[in-house]
Amino acid sequence: KPRLYSGMQPSADSLQAGNYIGALLQWRDLQGSYDAFFSVVDLHAITVPQDPSELREKTRRTAAQYIAAGIEPSQSTLYVQSHVRAHAELAWILSTITGFGEAGRMTQFKDKSSRFGADATSVGLFTYPVLMAADILLYQTDVVPVGDDQKQHVELTRDLAERFNARFGETFVVPKPVIQKETARIYDLQNPTSKMSKSAESDAGVLWLLDDPAKSAKKIMRAVTDNEGSVRYDRENKPGVSNLLTIYAALTGRQVGAIEDEYAGRGYGDFKKGLAEVVVDVFGPVRERANELLTDPAELDRILAANAARADEVADRTLADVYDRVGLLRRV
Ligand code: TYM
Repeated sequence: KPRLYSGMQPSADSLQAGNYIGALLQWRDLQGSYDAFFSVVDLHAITVPQDPSELREKTRRTAAQYIAAGIEPSQSTLYVQSHVRAHAELAWILSTITGFGEAGRMTQFKDKSSRFGADATSVGLFTYPVLMAADILLYQTDVVPVGDDQKQHVELTRDLAERFNARFGETFVVPKPVIQKETARIYDLQNPTSKMSKSAESDAGVLWLLDDPAKSAKKIMRAVTDNEGSVRYDRENKPGVSNLLTIYAALTGRQVGAIEDEYAGRGYGDFKKGLAEVVVDVFGPVRERANELLTDPAELDRILAANAARADEVADRTLADVYDRVGLLRRV
């Protein structure tokens, strides 16, 4: 089976709807056709300040949400990034073939560092995409399903793989990003021209997977629309309604056109009520299952440990090959 790799940061108590729709739904649907690896990338999360005990908790919560959303830890390798040492080691090697200017062109870094200012921006945030490349390349990955915002990082990963292969001989599989066109970018409900994000300034536009369903329903009822009054997909002129349609379609597996037809001649109130029900129906069971898993953290830790052992095997093989190829003396 071809290899698949993807991951998420444990940077909040709950994943948001963009993570679920843009990534998790695809992971779930693809896992049967691939030898899939899904990590909780805690080493990435610490590129911005984290409270240590909260980070541990968020890491477990993120893993629980993967499983609750349908990732099978007996079928796919679901593990915590820091449990597999090879990630940090390969990241160091790859950093030595990454251009300073090349890393500086990453738009996510530019966005974040301009928000924090130079002194509050860590070097880790700068080299973040190199660690992500290490994640992917360690597993000889064929495909990387992600949302649109990670595309540039996967492109960098490809460049690094090709560069390494050219300089030191065929070592890495060159991975391809897999981005679902329709759901690649879910937008903030209050600010439908910027993407929904765990780190949004206001909570009002973010739907959390583990939130109280009544709260999520309220957020949908208050979502920004427009004053045309017709439920119609038009990203350019109707970003709010279009975003709601995208979410509706993704969570029901229906076509946008069929949803437009259903709500033709009806107001936004009806449409939002319909979507609120869908969100409650889909997120509700995921929330319940995640909470259930979190009542037994020892069992969750055991699953993660077993999966990390599986990941170690693959990662160690690649890393040993890389060390040899760059000329590091073998320890005998
Ligand atoms: P992260 O944790 O920011 O997001 C996890 C996944 O969710 C997708 N996503 C979205 N998709 C659609 N609309 C949105 N509003 C939205 N917000 C987030 C992201 O594109 C991503 O697929 N650097 C990565 C984590 C990572 C990784 C990896 C991914 C580390 N190593 C290796 C793939 C392969 C990140 O910060 O994702």
